[in-house]
Amino acid sequence: MPRSEPAPLVIAVDGPAAAGKGTLARRLAAHYGLRHLDTGALYRATALRLLRANGDPAHEAAAEAAARNVTAADLDDPALREEEVGQAASVVATHGAVRVALLDYQRTFAAEPPGAVLDGRDIGTVVCPEAQVKFYLEATAEVRAERRLCELRSRGVESIESSVLEEIIARDVRDSRRSAAPLKPAADASRIDTTALGPDEVFEQAVATVDSRLSST
Ligand code: CDP
Repeated sequence: MPRSEPAPLVIAVDGPAAAGKGTLARRLAAHYGLRHLDTGALYRATALRLLRANGDPAHEAAAEAAARNVTAADLDDPALREEEVGQAASVVATHGAVRVALLDYQRTFAAEPPGAVLDGRDIGTVVCPEAQVKFYLEATAEVRAERRLCELRSRGVESIESSVLEEIIARDVRDSRRSAAPLKPAADASRIDTTALGPDEVFEQAVATVDSRLSST
């Protein structure tokens, strides 16, 4: 009988804005030789398409049409990182039809060998509930706002700390209160509070968790 291929390894990294998901997901992907998908970019790309067409992110049918037109090439647009796009992304993300429209892309990406690390809000709960390893990163809103401010400054964008904090809190509320795939830890997720941890410490903890899961399967 031909030997069956091992199932792709899928690692889910969820959590609120600026909790360190992207940094951890990229490093895990490099370490385990997996591909990485920042699923927030799909919602941002949907929002950017709408904003450029003068569409309203609150309009579900328009947002769904924009989501269906998102391509891999959209995900490299530097405008995706603008705060206005992030806010509009968290509005389009409240629509169930938008979330369904983006599911296939995410699941197809995860299913391709050798597997992938996906970061987002609902990877462990909805997109890949069968992921072998799930992380949920959290940190205080103040620390997350400081990190986002540094990130913006490093890209030459001047912002005011208090407005970055307000924006993060507004997005936390919208992401966790929506009825479609709200932000919440999966029951089987390993939670890491990154408030007092640097990127290396988070990475080391996460690698220890992945290695122990893989050796027990
Ligand atoms: O990088 P940051 O954490 O600021 O945001 P992001 O991951 O780029 O996501 C932008 C917005 O998309 C979030 O505020 C969520 O509302 C939404 N999103 C989602 O609903 N589900 C995901 N899997 C990823 C992002």
